[in-house]
Amino acid sequence: MEQWEMEKPMTLLWLAFTNVNGLTINGSGTINGRGSAWWPQPCLHKVAKALTFYRCNRLVLKGLRHINSQRNHITLTNCKGATISNLHISAPATSPNTDGIDIGGSSNVQIRNSFISTGDDCIAVSSGSSHINITGISCGPGHGISIGALGVHGENDTVEEVHVRNCTFKGTMTGVRIKTWQGGVGYARKISFDKIKFIRVDSPIIIDQYYCPSGENCRNETSAIKISDVSYKSIVGTSITDKVINLSCDQNVGCSNIQLDHVYIKSMVPGKKAYSYCFNAHGKYTHTRPVADCLKP
Ligand SMILES: *[C@@H]1O[C@H](CO)[C@@H](O)[C@H](O)[C@H]1NC(C)=O
Ligand SMILES: *[C@@H]1O[C@H](CO)[C@@H](O)[C@H](O)[C@H]1NC(C)=O
Ligand SMILES: *[C@@H]1O[C@H](CO)[C@@H](O)[C@H](O)[C@H]1NC(C)=O
Ligand SMILES: *[C@@H]1O[C@H](CO)[C@@H](O)[C@H](O)[C@H]1NC(C)=O
Ligand SMILES: *[C@@H]1O[C@H](CO)[C@@H](O)[C@H](O)[C@H]1NC(C)=O
Ligand SMILES: *[C@@H]1O[C@H](CO)[C@@H](O)[C@H](O)[C@H]1NC(C)=O
Repeated sequence: MEQWEMEKPMTLLWLAFTNVNGLTINGSGTINGRGSAWWPQPCLHKVAKALTFYRCNRLVLKGLRHINSQRNHITLTNCKGATISNLHISAPATSPNTDGIDIGGSSNVQIRNSFISTGDDCIAVSSGSSHINITGISCGPGHGISIGALGVHGENDTVEEVHVRNCTFKGTMTGVRIKTWQGGVGYARKISFDKIKFIRVDSPIIIDQYYCPSGENCRNETSAIKISDVSYKSIVGTSITDKVINLSCDQNVGCSNIQLDHVYIKSMVPGKKAYSYCFNAHGKYTHTRPVADCLKP
């Protein structure tokens, strides 16, 4: 949720609905962004988002196909109450920034039973979002389901009550990820991942409090977004690497109450055992392989 978007919601958007209450879009058509002409564009901020809902309350979006968006396929900003279901979203794995669904500043959002295969995040939940339920999503290829990146430029970002359930990740770069920049304030808390299946995922479970995309000059700061009350439960699958659980929490603030229960992830690297890595992560694990004995009490 960038500043320009808040102030000028009509710029750089292709199809946009703003301040609409009770809108239902229920159909079987296709929204084709014909993005391939835009993807080579070097200035990403000049690329339009395909379908945007800004300050829309009680939205229902159902049944459409969304293909090859210029940038994000679907964006929800400052919306209250939305049910998104039975969508089919696809763009090539190599297309830049073609997120499936981005949610920012929104609450009471339900996303279910959809197929998302794109070049970036399947679903990204950003600052100001709460009570977001994501269930029955088939994700991949793409970058998985992400919370963040939060706390850029020291911002106060908050996200809470995000529940991801019954989702499958196939060939994604990350599976379920929480990412924050160094130097923010605020929190990401009360987050759960339940009944998840990973198939050939690169980094299945990751908390990254050192988020720094290539080309950025990042350094460690003293403040951080506080991550707490995160549970990973009933998770199975495979990874193409051996580092299947990576909980890299902030060096000063740390993460608290991280819980892993019935998490079984295998490595597909021949002859290698899967392992867990933690840094300043506090919590506990039960019935988990690889064991997460790197967690501190
Ligand atoms: C969507 O359309 C289908 C087919 O016309 C209909 O059965 C269903 O009730 C509609 N759903 C919503 C939420 O309007
Ligand atoms: C999310 O799921 C919880 C538990 O099933 C439920 O209580 C809550 O109403 C759901 N929220 C939304 C926005 O769907
Ligand atoms: C789980 O998700 C799949 C779609 O990936 C859906 O068909 C199925 O009904 C969901 N099951 C439950 C129990 O929600
Ligand atoms: C950050 O924002 C939250 C929610 O709006 C607020 O409760 C909190 O006081 C803010 N923290 C700081 C340090 O400004
Ligand atoms: C874990 O993630 C952090 C942050 O992205 C990265 O710097 C680190 O190399 C990863 N650790 C392992 C063991 O993969
Ligand atoms: C930031 O802190 C982490 C954890 O102490 C450390 O591994 C990393 O090297 C530091 N990065 C920089 C740029 O100082």
